[in-house]
Amino acid sequence: MLIASSSLGILLLSAAAATSVARQASQGYFQWGSAPIRGVNLGGWLVLEPWITPSIFEDKPDWVVDEWTYGAYWRDRRDTYSEIRTHWGSWFKQSDLQEMKRVGLNTVRIPIGYWSLIPLSTSEPYLPGAFDYLKLGVNWAQQAGLSVMIDLHGAPGSQNGFDNSGFRGPREWFWNQTNADRSISALKVLVAEFSQAGYANTVTAIGLLNEPFPVSPDQVGFLRKFLQDSYASLRAIQTQKHLVIVIDSAYQGLPAWQDFMVQGYYDGVETDCRFNNYTLVYGYNQVLQWFCNQTDYFRASDKTHWTIIGEFTPAHTDCARWLNGRCRGARWDNSLNGHRLTFPGDCKKKTGSDISRWDGDYVEHLARSFETQTYVYEQASGWIMWTWKTEEAADWSMSAGITYGWIPTPVWNKTRG
Ligand SMILES: *[C@@H]1O[C@H](CO)[C@@H](O)[C@H](O)[C@H]1NC(C)=O
Ligand SMILES: *[C@@H]1O[C@H](CO)[C@@H](O)[C@H](O)[C@H]1NC(C)=O
Ligand SMILES: *[C@@H]1O[C@H](CO)[C@@H](O)[C@H](O)[C@H]1NC(C)=O
Ligand SMILES: *[C@@H]1O[C@H](CO)[C@@H](O)[C@H](O)[C@H]1NC(C)=O
Repeated sequence: MLIASSSLGILLLSAAAATSVARQASQGYFQWGSAPIRGVNLGGWLVLEPWITPSIFEDKPDWVVDEWTYGAYWRDRRDTYSEIRTHWGSWFKQSDLQEMKRVGLNTVRIPIGYWSLIPLSTSEPYLPGAFDYLKLGVNWAQQAGLSVMIDLHGAPGSQNGFDNSGFRGPREWFWNQTNADRSISALKVLVAEFSQAGYANTVTAIGLLNEPFPVSPDQVGFLRKFLQDSYASLRAIQTQKHLVIVIDSAYQGLPAWQDFMVQGYYDGVETDCRFNNYTLVYGYNQVLQWFCNQTDYFRASDKTHWTIIGEFTPAHTDCARWLNGRCRGARWDNSLNGHRLTFPGDCKKKTGSDISRWDGDYVEHLARSFETQTYVYEQASGWIMWTWKTEEAADWSMSAGITYGWIPTPVWNKTRG
């Protein structure tokens, strides 16, 4: 999850995939392109994010801001693993996935970091072990009848510098080939496991790299080569061909990927689009209009690649505590360094777990935002909301939305026109 500006991830699947995937669909695989994807992310589970589970961070020194520093904190203490194993074993349960199915979802997206997949050097303090829980989650999805997209959310050196990549700081991933090679090694572990026939009806896609953030043409080139190299390596080792390979648009916009990995490739491209500093100042109706205005953009992209929005939120602000990083404030109330909105909003009225403190019309706006966005994204190939649950930021929680009614059951029911 991009916390800096609240992202919408979009999956692009090349049209060339249509034939082979459609044939698979008739054998019982997930019907890419024939039914909209309606999903939710299992955020804050196998990759820690301070704003999703502040309780894991708030009893630690201020320098513990991401999974790297979290590991550094625990590595030299007794009971190194007890807290994180408790978290892995409890943040999601089998009953959560059954509930996701019950409310009409068909897909879950599960983020994982490279540190859970390949050997680490002694200078990397991460605590490995999450891969076993990924397999458990996939198993629960299989039993519930949900499809799974697995997503490499953190790469060596960090591909975006956000805490949700495991490492908050400089984006060192782009600096050298060792990082790209190790990322491919991590992806190979995923593909070796999940391309086995037993997962064929469940694990439908592997995301190569979440939200890489290149800032120069050289870095874009480095990324494009990585995506092509990954594709070739992963296709070479697949025992079954049911996995769709997904790439992220990397803040370049959908048109930048229109001609990329189309000819000669079976499947996928993932991309990003976002609401940003500017849409924060939009009023409720204006932001809904802005979503609607994207319809043609998504439809156009969906003609050459299946396009889904891999992350979105109905939340209107960045108020959720630590959304922009531990101990950082929000743009909405001008408490994020150097940010100046023309109005300072009151964050207490837009987030938190006690919705009785919210502005009276905010719940209705969340309902309209969810309905509008899911409608727009279904004009392409579907959507995956960020995220299923949070400890306190109810505005970002699908399960809170269902409980309080701003998300309908079933989730695809349109109740507001
Ligand atoms: C490549 O990046 C890693 C950090 O991810 C670093 O440890 C290593 O020294 C870098 N190698 C070169 C040649 O810059
Ligand atoms: C949406 O598009 C309409 C028509 O082009 C335009 O007038 C309006 O300003 C746009 N609104 C936003 C919020 O982008
Ligand atoms: C958005 O605001 C943040 C915080 O003030 C700032 O760091 C960033 O550069 C801004 N981005 C744009 C695109 O204006
Ligand atoms: C959709 O919502 C409406 C209004 O709340 C309700 O009457 C209807 O039964 C719902 N549809 C389904 C399929 O549940």
